Amino acid sequence: MELRKICRENARAQWEYTTALPADENGLTNPFHGVSYEAYLRDTLPTLMSYEHPVHMPDWFVPETYTYLWDGDCLVGEFRIRHHLTEALRTGAGHIGYSIGRNYRGRGYGTAGLRLALAMAREIVPEDEIYLRVNKDNPASLKVMLNNGAYMAGEDESHYFMRIPK
Ligand SMILES: CC(C)(COP(=O)(O)OP(=O)(O)OC[C@H]1O[C@@H](n2cnc3c(N)ncnc32)[C@H](O)[C@@H]1OP(=O)(O)O)[C@@H](O)C(=O)NCCC(=O)NCCS
Repeated sequence: MELRKICRENARAQWEYTTALPADENGLTNPFHGVSYEAYLRDTLPTLMSYEHPVHMPDWFVPETYTYLWDGDCLVGEFRIRHHLTEALRTGAGHIGYSIGRNYRGRGYGTAGLRLALAMAREIVPEDEIYLRVNKDNPASLKVMLNNGAYMAGEDESHYFMRIPK
């Protein structure tokens, strides 16, 4: 199992994943739900690839690396790593967002993928802890975080704010 950065070579599998991922599932947003393959190649893929080294983006935009979890030649999930915190991310979505394809859930991929994403994030993120946020009604994702050593640092009405020491 490995995380591979978004790339042109894997365009077809990445598109199939992205276009099928809901527009919003448990707070993980995906504005590219339902995009055609042509539009993905022309617009979406270059846009998502550019997020790692953004140019001409507003000041609030934090560089973000898109990676995909592969098991052999199957793309099973997506992990996005934001390179540092802003005030909005500190009290919001944190450093890492992720999902596992519906057909692959419940087999340990979320836990294994977050472990790999944490290893990558530790090389990028300057903060002492990796910040994560989870909806209170998403026990599977909370479990994925706890499996990776997360502790609860706070909560609001609908979220737990979790942290994993680097
Ligand atoms: C959350 C998500 C990534 C989990 O991925 P996954 O591959 O199914 O996760 P895993 O198989 O590694 O483990 C899930 C754990 O949650 C547990 N779990 C699953 N559903 C559960 C439920 N309804 N209640 C309690 N625990 C649950 C599993 O038993 C497993 O526990 P274990 O490690 O003790 O065996 C996946 O469901 C997903 O993509 N959801 C939609 C997007 C999303 O919610 N992203 C996270 C936003 S914070």
